Amino acid sequence: MSEKEHVVGDIGAVDISRKSHITSMGNAPAYFSAWDLHSYYGESYIVQGVSFDVREGEILALLGRNGAGKTSTLRSISRTDTPQLHHGEIWLDHQPIHSMKSFRAAQNGIALVQEDRRIIPGLSVEQSLELAQIAEPVGWARERIYEHFPRLAERRKQEAVTLSGGEQQMLAVARALARDVKLLLLDEPYEGLAPVIVQEIERILESIRELGMTTIIVEQNAVAALKLSDRAVILDMGKVVFDGAAQEVLDNNELREEYLAI
Ligand SMILES: Nc1ncnc2c1ncn2[C@@H]1O[C@H](COP(=O)(O)OP(=O)(O)O)[C@@H](O)[C@H]1O
Ligand SMILES: [Mg+2]
Repeated sequence: MSEKEHVVGDIGAVDISRKSHITSMGNAPAYFSAWDLHSYYGESYIVQGVSFDVREGEILALLGRNGAGKTSTLRSISRTDTPQLHHGEIWLDHQPIHSMKSFRAAQNGIALVQEDRRIIPGLSVEQSLELAQIAEPVGWARERIYEHFPRLAERRKQEAVTLSGGEQQMLAVARALARDVKLLLLDEPYEGLAPVIVQEIERILESIRELGMTTIIVEQNAVAALKLSDRAVILDMGKVVFDGAAQEVLDNNELREEYLAI
């Protein structure tokens, strides 16, 4: 196992001093920091002391086998009602996200693009983007979004539910950018898409990367995610088992076989 293996803290022995948030990049606290998250679905204890940092502009791949707790971790961070976060701290740009409900977390810059993409029936592409911008703080102007997503521009009058899977994924990402996003959370953006569409989404994510959008990407297609990412965190049974450079995971067959089944 890697010498960089993350040491997970025990419940009750939590050091919540700000020292815990200092990164190896100097004295600045991390832009985003999840610290000792413990989350439950009712009695089911799922996220078991997850900690990691993300620097501003960085892309982090959050990986692990099916059922490892990736979605649950993203949902904990975005403060959805389930799973319930019982313990831990979440900081984004100096804001205590852990003390917020999902609506406030979204206002403070957390955008979760869920696996099912949450396309709203009855609305056109244009109306879906308008709805995303109905309340402050808004992000990209619609024209800028259409420049980056020409397919969406072509289909702006089309009902969003009639879009292809790839286009729906583009719309889900575009809706997030229409808000004032500080941390983009992508849950399996390539799920169910044909390889040619995956390439198109990859290009969009690369352009997002060039724009310096801080992003956490969860993907079963670990190699594709790792190629896009600076760093990787691997979860296994609700715990962090690796935290290091994305390239290190690409280079380490044992690690991939043990935790990623690739
Ligand atoms: N709504 C839920 N209620 C109870 N258990 C759940 C629920 N959602 C997920 N789980 C359980 O939590 C664990 C982690 O799931 P999840 O976070 O979806 O994993 P991943 O996204 O890594 O595949 C799994 O054992 C799963 O069965
Ligand atoms: Mg999942």
